[in-house]
Amino acid sequence: MCGIVAYIGPKEAYPILVKGLKRLEYRGYDSAGVAVLNGALHVYKKAGKVSELENYTIGKDVSATIGIGHTRWATHGVPNDINAHPHLSNSGNLAIIHNGIIENYDSIKQELIKRGYQFHSDTDTEVLVNLIEEVRKQENATLEDAVRIALNEVVGAYAIVVIDRNNPNQLVAARKGSPMVIGIGENEFFVASDASPIIEYTKQVVYLDDQEYTVINRDGSFYIKTLGNVIKSHAIQKLEMSLEMIEKGGFEHFMLKEIFEQPKVIADAVRGRMNAQDGWIKLGGINEYLNKFANAKRIIFSACGTSWHSAMIGEYLIEDLARIPVEVEYASEFRYRNPIINEDDVIIAISQSGETADTLAAIEMAKERKAMIYGICNVIGSSIARASHAGSYTHAGPEIGVASTKAFTAQITILTLMALQLAQARGTISSSKLREILVELENIPAKIERALKLDEQIKEIAAIYKDSSNFLYLGRGYNFPVALEGALKLKEISYIHAEGYPAAEMKHGPIALIDENMPVVFLATNASAYEKIISNIQEVKARKGKVIAVVNEGDKHVRSLADHVIEVPATEEVLSPLVTIIPLQLLSYHIAIMRGCNVDQPRNLAKSVTVE
Ligand code: F6R
Repeated sequence: MCGIVAYIGPKEAYPILVKGLKRLEYRGYDSAGVAVLNGALHVYKKAGKVSELENYTIGKDVSATIGIGHTRWATHGVPNDINAHPHLSNSGNLAIIHNGIIENYDSIKQELIKRGYQFHSDTDTEVLVNLIEEVRKQENATLEDAVRIALNEVVGAYAIVVIDRNNPNQLVAARKGSPMVIGIGENEFFVASDASPIIEYTKQVVYLDDQEYTVINRDGSFYIKTLGNVIKSHAIQKLEMSLEMIEKGGFEHFMLKEIFEQPKVIADAVRGRMNAQDGWIKLGGINEYLNKFANAKRIIFSACGTSWHSAMIGEYLIEDLARIPVEVEYASEFRYRNPIINEDDVIIAISQSGETADTLAAIEMAKERKAMIYGICNVIGSSIARASHAGSYTHAGPEIGVASTKAFTAQITILTLMALQLAQARGTISSSKLREILVELENIPAKIERALKLDEQIKEIAAIYKDSSNFLYLGRGYNFPVALEGALKLKEISYIHAEGYPAAEMKHGPIALIDENMPVVFLATNASAYEKIISNIQEVKARKGKVIAVVNEGDKHVRSLADHVIEVPATEEVLSPLVTIIPLQLLSYHIAIMRGCNVDQPRNLAKSVTVE
């Protein structure tokens, strides 16, 4: 978490830094700061959003052509002005911005205190900048050498940029475990956590790899080295992102824009990867490893949050269609519980950001145990994408709203193609059924469009239940993970307690919660469990619960029982999550707006969880 941005070149740095920080705010937004160097090193930082920082700097000296900026998601120390970045070394010569965690900061801090250093903040970052200062003093080292030597002493994750008050012509930046991209413009350079602060200035970028650092000079020269001091060659890549992709495009919030983008996102995710008429599927990465996949003894998904819900749908799809045993693991548990992993297991990591620390660590652990790693990521060039042996991008475009929406449906689309391709290779699906599902997959964008037209009706339902303290979401089969995802969407952006359950599990506990104040959202579209879900709805009604049911268009039976029905277009059961999640995303969005919540930047959250 945390967003970092730095600039060196002929332009005014401050406006570039502030604009960049606003684009990175999704990564953390509890405080923000900049350091600009113009003879003097000026540091301005404020608790709160980047806009607070902007107000604070009005009338202050921000004119400089080199600077660093940071937007924070607090790890060590509460969000306040003092703990905000940048942090200065004791001499005031060095300023640093840092995304990540230094795990052994306390022992280093005690050692530095013994040597006379004083600390003003509670952060691990202030320890790091003083360690660099101390190394520089002890070893009479250049800034580059001091940074490298210091980083070899720390344990943890970081993306850092350091500047020196006495050298306005150089930036030193390094990464391990946190993302970093360098933008290369005309005699100017940018460094940032992702490409969004860079995109309007240059499309030429270099992604720094783990355990690498770069020294960037104002004269236009730069080089990359490993933390072992070995020079690395670097490939300049062209950004595929455009400016309009990271703007709101007329929507009030990124989340709403991203919900409404889903028809296009699904169409983009399947483009060039399947042909319904001819019945072929070619998912990049699977082709080269088809044998490995088709003969896998087991597929293990590892992911977090919404991506973990996609993984559950992946489990249902692959077991149902391709008949390969699947396990779904929370990456944070998987990485630490000493799991049994064999060479003929395939590990699939799912991650929108491609930077989630636990998911990344889980695949590194599985790689050491010789498993094949397949990554399903949205962010191109992200750490998980690069750490995987093969993979597929979801191509959903930048997802900026902190609550994941379009990335979820794009992930499910990829998983559907994967399950079908494996089923075809293993002969577990007939060619007619395969074609039927592929044809229907092509119809999904239009069906989502229809579901999006329910927006006004969903807003009315939101108005009725916006003050509820609890919600239950119930579904069966493919709609069980959708229930989990619906509950997560609601709690993370509206702060209403919500739980998702398999509908039949209700009577093993949650039914005790049901009274006239409990709204229960039922997903009642799947034919295979229809009668059973009707019984579950009756059980809730018998206890005076309020039922909001998502049903197929034209459903009469549920209408006679439920307080509200939301009719979505019917589809193949295996594809139903792609449609049934839409009203749940809209419901959580409208409830959150009506409760005055910041839907794009919910409290305590960050888009990219690069700490464990
Ligand atoms: C929920 C949400 C989070 C993420 C989780 C994993 O809306 O966004 O639960 O899904 O932090 O993130 P990625 O997919 O980037 O690994």
